[in-house]
Amino acid sequence: MQKFEQYLEANLPNIETFHPIYEKALADMLLAGGKRFRPLLLLRVVEAYEPLLVESAMAAALALEYFHTYSLIHDDLPAMDDSPLRRGHSTLHTTYDEATAILAGDALNTHSFLLLSQAAFRSDVRIRLVEILAINGGTHGMVLGQAIDLYFENIPLELNQIKELHVNKTAKLIAASLQMGAVIVGLSKGVQDELYDFGIKLGLLFQIQDDIIDETQSSQEAGKTTGSDSDKNSFINLLGLNKSIEQADDLAQKLEVQFNQFDDNLQQALKPLITQYLHRHKG
Ligand code: IPE
Ligand code: IPE
Ligand code: MG
Ligand code: MG
Ligand code: MG
Repeated sequence: MQKFEQYLEANLPNIETFHPIYEKALADMLLAGGKRFRPLLLLRVVEAYEPLLVESAMAAALALEYFHTYSLIHDDLPAMDDSPLRRGHSTLHTTYDEATAILAGDALNTHSFLLLSQAAFRSDVRIRLVEILAINGGTHGMVLGQAIDLYFENIPLELNQIKELHVNKTAKLIAASLQMGAVIVGLSKGVQDELYDFGIKLGLLFQIQDDIIDETQSSQEAGKTTGSDSDKNSFINLLGLNKSIEQADDLAQKLEVQFNQFDDNLQQALKPLITQYLHRHKG
């Protein structure tokens, strides 16, 4: 969605300070691109049911991209994955220094909740959006996943533990994006839960695919440092490339069945974004 990109560029945090690089450091990774998968998932759900709310939903979509970008900046730090390349650009700790990267991540994390708290929705909706992002991104979600990912480097986990790692690290934020869209348009709790469940499976598939990318693509192709998962509990290291591809194809098939049960308008809205994941087994 072209409009989201424009909205992001027009709504970068406006910071008045004598600090020479702080404002630029916060903006660099946001402007470096990326698939914008999470904000677009939210916006597509809103568009499917209440197109008039898309404009107000931009702030919530932006909050997701800020939060996700913070997670990437920290993921690349020397103490974490130690990656010099992200979104086709040098990572913040490489361009500036480690403290700047840590603080830029902190700022984007906090700012995402500011955006949600100020969005043009009823106060109960805003509180629910804050709650969903906090639950899925923080203590019980992405942060937990990253903690497991890093603590258990070079300590082999079992398949169900690796799934738990991936669900927390990646799938919950993707599921939250769909759920936040559902909350904005006031879908029933039942439909919200269904979308969330679908999002967890989609997110798991997304991370298996990401592990496959680490194994099969060059850093230049991927725009980020690859070939770097050798210490990780990745699907590739547990199952090997071929079995990981089989798992991904299997999951894609299950997802497609679930997807076909959604309303027509929701299917139409989400299709362009997720076809490449759903139909990977037909490739
Ligand atoms: C990368 O996320 C980190 C994972 C959770 C796998 P994306 O693949 O969505 O990265 P961008 O946003 O496109 O850069
Ligand atoms: C990171 O997973 C997921 C996040 C929460 C940022 P990876 O470490 O596999 O992501 P990439 O491959 O560096 O993008
Ligand atoms: Mg990582
Ligand atoms: Mg990484
Ligand atoms: Mg990866």
